[in-house]
Amino acid sequence: MPASSSDPPRIVITIDGPAGTGKSTVAHLLATKLGLEFLDTGAMYRAAALIALERDIVPDQGYDLGQAVDQADLHFDWKTDPPRLMLADRDVGKRIRDFDVSGIVSRVAAQPELRRVLVNQQRRIAQRHPRLVSEGRDQGSVVFPDADLKFYVHADVAVRANRRVAQLAAAGKSVDQARIKQDIQERDRLDASRSDGPLVRPADAVDIDTGSRSAAEVVSAMEKIARQRLPHAGFRR
Ligand code: DC
Repeated sequence: MPASSSDPPRIVITIDGPAGTGKSTVAHLLATKLGLEFLDTGAMYRAAALIALERDIVPDQGYDLGQAVDQADLHFDWKTDPPRLMLADRDVGKRIRDFDVSGIVSRVAAQPELRRVLVNQQRRIAQRHPRLVSEGRDQGSVVFPDADLKFYVHADVAVRANRRVAQLAAAGKSVDQARIKQDIQERDRLDASRSDGPLVRPADAVDIDTGSRSAAEVVSAMEKIARQRLPHAGFRR
């Protein structure tokens, strides 16, 4: 359908940052406040890792994995809030948070052929969902370099480890604090050192420390910036 002059404008807000900074939570809350849709790209990499596990594809076989993911019916159900990630007719939203998936996802995410497939899918999603808060590692740097507003979130590794422990404990999973901290540090290292789409802070991103503030405070700061910088975006009031 052609866009009419009365349609609200296309808006992409990106939120990038390392694991455990509360990105998904604040991205979803910010999208709700502003009346935008929410894209969790980490979930897509996790689903690719699940596909690797289920089809016995070695995570480093980027070409095979890229093909498998491209052909799999991986999509979001946009009728739910937040959108639910589906693999064909299966809701994989919970399964992709399990330890076996988390354990290989950084290796999976380092494969350039797979990244190409998912970056294309993310751009296609933005065509169909043109008012979006998109969250990940490379959203402002690679996928949407012309985003209207970019945030880079970060927090001290100890704070991030404590949060992850609390989340897992709340989900009834037993956890080893030292191991969680090590896992986060290892994921940071892999995310930042891969050659394709590494975690970087885009030069034009607004820096947000999520370690010393609650999610509500962080979202309120982001919302204020978004409304100030994008006065004509037609955000929800
Ligand atoms: O945000 P998360 O923990 O769900 O991300 C899972 C993995 O996917 C993590 O290793 C980083 C990677 N990722 C990525 O490489 N690029 C993105 N845009 C989003 C996530």
